[in-house]
Amino acid sequence: MARHDVIIIGSGIAALSLAAQICEKMNVLVFTKSSREESNSILAQGGVAAVITEDDDLSLHVNDTIEAGVNHNSEEAVQFLVDKGSKVVKKLIQEGFPFDKDLNGNILLGREGAHQKNRIVHAGGDQTGKALTSYYLNRVKGMVELKEEHMVIDLIVTQGHCVGVKAVDQKGERNEYFAEHIVLATGGCGALYSYTSNQQVMTGDGLAIAYQAGARLSDLEFLQFHPTMLYVDGYCKGLISEAVRGEGAYLVNEDHQRIMQGLHKLEDLAPRDVVARAIFQERKLGKDVYLNVSPIKKFEKKFPTIYSMCQRNGIAIEDGLIPVAPGMHFLMGGVETDLKGRTSIPGLYAIGEVANTGVHGANRLASNSLLEGLVFGESLGQCLLQEPKGKRDHLIPSNTVKPIVVHKIKLPTKNEIQQVMSLYVGIERDEKGLKKAKSCFETYINQSSFWDINVNEFTIEELEIRNMLIVSYLITKSALQRKESRGGHFRLDFPSKDNVNWGKVKVVHSNETIKSKVGVG
Ligand code: SIN
Repeated sequence: MARHDVIIIGSGIAALSLAAQICEKMNVLVFTKSSREESNSILAQGGVAAVITEDDDLSLHVNDTIEAGVNHNSEEAVQFLVDKGSKVVKKLIQEGFPFDKDLNGNILLGREGAHQKNRIVHAGGDQTGKALTSYYLNRVKGMVELKEEHMVIDLIVTQGHCVGVKAVDQKGERNEYFAEHIVLATGGCGALYSYTSNQQVMTGDGLAIAYQAGARLSDLEFLQFHPTMLYVDGYCKGLISEAVRGEGAYLVNEDHQRIMQGLHKLEDLAPRDVVARAIFQERKLGKDVYLNVSPIKKFEKKFPTIYSMCQRNGIAIEDGLIPVAPGMHFLMGGVETDLKGRTSIPGLYAIGEVANTGVHGANRLASNSLLEGLVFGESLGQCLLQEPKGKRDHLIPSNTVKPIVVHKIKLPTKNEIQQVMSLYVGIERDEKGLKKAKSCFETYINQSSFWDINVNEFTIEELEIRNMLIVSYLITKSALQRKESRGGHFRLDFPSKDNVNWGKVKVVHSNETIKSKVGVG
């Protein structure tokens, strides 16, 4: 039976930086559900937050991360991220990674929400994720086996250790693969919502398979809604980076009033949860919201991706106003790990967005996500290189493939799940709505055959829907349990005592009014 040293599930920055670290010494198999061009990392526009100049300080980056995370972070994890992050980025600069520079050859540092300093390094203007992905894909080219269009549907756990995975390809062929170490790097779950900055393939698969294998998951109620998706004709068309506000753009409502003034001391660069909620409130009042980009000179040069996305969607940057709405962007919680990426199941690791290391707390600081992928990918690589070989050899089962029994169970559509999540488990929640969502998901997951992956000849789409249901249910349950508002988890029935002047805006408490505005119901 073919066996690898390491199986990595996912092909974003966390996966690739791990692969680059180990591929010369270890035999690596990478699975990706779609193509290597379709990770969330590729879409990341803003850049990488890191302390690389004399006038910045690691402690400031730590403080900003914890303040944005509303003190829910693990301080140890944040110190680790910031300290290692600075080293990883400096190494990338030394290796000649093409971060944007000024005419004198100095690295350009952007600013984003809740950062006290300009510390965002970027490449190709707003194409940092794409540039980093190509850089790492080149580094691992020919050195790892990459299986595209293979969805990992289950983890194989024997005597408490994770020893392999089951995967299905586009033709529906199922196979088992074994390795000494299994790494989840599957990203988040933006596709649970109608509006998202994520790729549509982000159906929470890593979270669902880890949960079914018995791994510990935590902080799932903390979801980050990015304030500014391009919003055209009732649809979100993609991300408008916070770096645009960092360059001077500001938010206005349809009456041309600045919506962040007087609301938070950092105004348009307040933490994301605050800005997203402010836009959400305006939209609940029936007002459209725009990003006024007229202060930005040479927009098309600084933000080429955003410029062409606006052009494709009939929005002329020259007119100065980009219509925006918030959308699901990032999951702060996930599969619980230590700083080495180890989960509660020996042999199973998690890195990047799927993991909950404690670095993000209740709300992630802007541009700390590519940083997280780079740092935890590299540090897990260093740990795996030191692990003794063959620790789990005796645990490989002879055959775990069970016969498939065709027994159709009823599943909802993806759209139905997205509508329930957007309406009841979105930017604002309350007990009544959360209970409605929970009972809606229970209709499906309480069927005993739902939990038997072998019962049904699920199509890929059905497997994704099943994962979406599991993760939606877990998020909803967690949100019900947390009877407070904190960061990305805002309960209307337990409002926060934050330092935001919400009195400035009229708060609307009815879900009904938002239905048409958020495209649900
Ligand atoms: C953005 O560019 O606004 C998103 C980057 C991030 O999520 O950190």
